[in-house]
Amino acid sequence: MESPSIKIAIIGAGTVGAALVAMLNDHTRDAALHEAVGGTLKIAGIAVRDIKRPRSGVAPELLTTDVEALVTRDDVDVVVELAGGVDDAYRYVRRALESGKSVVTANKALIAAKGTELEAIARTQNVDLIFEAAVGGGIPILRALRTSLVGEKIHRVMGIVNGTTNFILSAMTSDGASYDDVLAEAQRLGYAEADPTADVEGFDAAAKVTILAALSFGTPLVGAVIPREGISRITADDVAFASRHGYVIKLIGVAERVGEHGISMRVHPAMLPTSHPLASINGAFNAVFVEGAKAGPLMLMGRGAGGDPTASAVLGDILEAARNRVVSRRSATPDVEENLTDFPQSELQSTFYLTLDVADRPGVLAAVTTVFGDHGVSIRLMEQSGFGDEARLTFVTHFALESDMAATIEDLQTLDVVDAIGSTIRIVGEDS
Ligand code: NDP
Ligand code: HSE
Repeated sequence: MESPSIKIAIIGAGTVGAALVAMLNDHTRDAALHEAVGGTLKIAGIAVRDIKRPRSGVAPELLTTDVEALVTRDDVDVVVELAGGVDDAYRYVRRALESGKSVVTANKALIAAKGTELEAIARTQNVDLIFEAAVGGGIPILRALRTSLVGEKIHRVMGIVNGTTNFILSAMTSDGASYDDVLAEAQRLGYAEADPTADVEGFDAAAKVTILAALSFGTPLVGAVIPREGISRITADDVAFASRHGYVIKLIGVAERVGEHGISMRVHPAMLPTSHPLASINGAFNAVFVEGAKAGPLMLMGRGAGGDPTASAVLGDILEAARNRVVSRRSATPDVEENLTDFPQSELQSTFYLTLDVADRPGVLAAVTTVFGDHGVSIRLMEQSGFGDEARLTFVTHFALESDMAATIEDLQTLDVVDAIGSTIRIVGEDS
């Protein structure tokens, strides 16, 4: 019997799309791919916005700007969405699913915004919606969660899930590079989102935490409450303080059970002790820690951004979807199982690093420390740098409730001796 040919429509030939096309055009691995699928893969067409742009390695006759026509074509089996953004991507993915195509996407913003609805359509149509590359680039963390760890009661998932911000913070730490210069380099290397605000303000990481939580705890894909802070306010002074005191600053995403029925999800910069396993994850690498009831702790790390690693994860999904088409099945997706309620961030505890710009005159320190004391926030370390009108006080607290720290900051803002409140960064990974 002739082996089936599975036709793939690709939306997007940018950083990831172009890398995927190169992988599909590398015929040295045809035998292995054929073995995995039970058929051959063929690119049916590639949709882009600008058909005139020169694109090396992409056959011009495959290009189109008519995305709807491509994703609904009768001969197409699998649609691969690598355009990014939410609105257009949603329209195209929906049309593809409704037309009975399986869909592979790397688009975390789309899945975190519309995943529940799209998954319902995929289920009704008995087709796949697979999105491994949406979290952790080339790291197979979602497949691990939905297959190997599917029977595990997971307590916590925590990681570095944004390559751009890790690239920036690593370069600021190791080379003293400027934030703006490294962000421009991350954009040049194809790590950043089309609008890098998504990276540096933590939106991208929050979408990934939503997806990780859905697969780890059965929480809904859409509607998660994720307190989020980015890295745009981190200064060279914060990085230098961290280095002097045995920490590194990382943007972390966390989803964890609190008690039997609570869940806390959050994204924020954190000072991690240099001995912490996540502290040595540098550049565009990502790492995700999973703590399971029986499996215990495990960590997957790898390249979290960039064309080739991401395309590798996309190709894995294409093979899964294509294989499923050949044998007429779809991959099981976990249902929403548990009714966990959002645990208020205000009731979590942490130690905090905080900087204040103050006037250097008698009584200032007493006024400032009184505010900490009034809210029961105990100070573990205090440093002063500068003098005169340029003085800066840096504090590290003992463990304190988030609500007490927030009240402290609110009251510090009202002191006329405090000119400005600088960074507030949680210290993570030390015992309480
Ligand atoms: P790029 O901006 O490099 O490429 C986007 C591609 O999509 C371009 O070819 C563009 O066409 C095309 N495109 C955009 N909008 C449309 C549209 N409305 N209709 C048709 N074509 C469109 O993005 P990336 O490759 O970096 O990212 C793609 C997706 O992968 C995003 O969802 C991103 O979040 C995700 N991702 C990216 C990673 C990375 O490291 N870059 C890692 C993991 C996930 P044209 O070329 O004509 O402009
Ligand atoms: N912009 C994203 C990042 C791409 O930097 O992590 C990978 O999802």
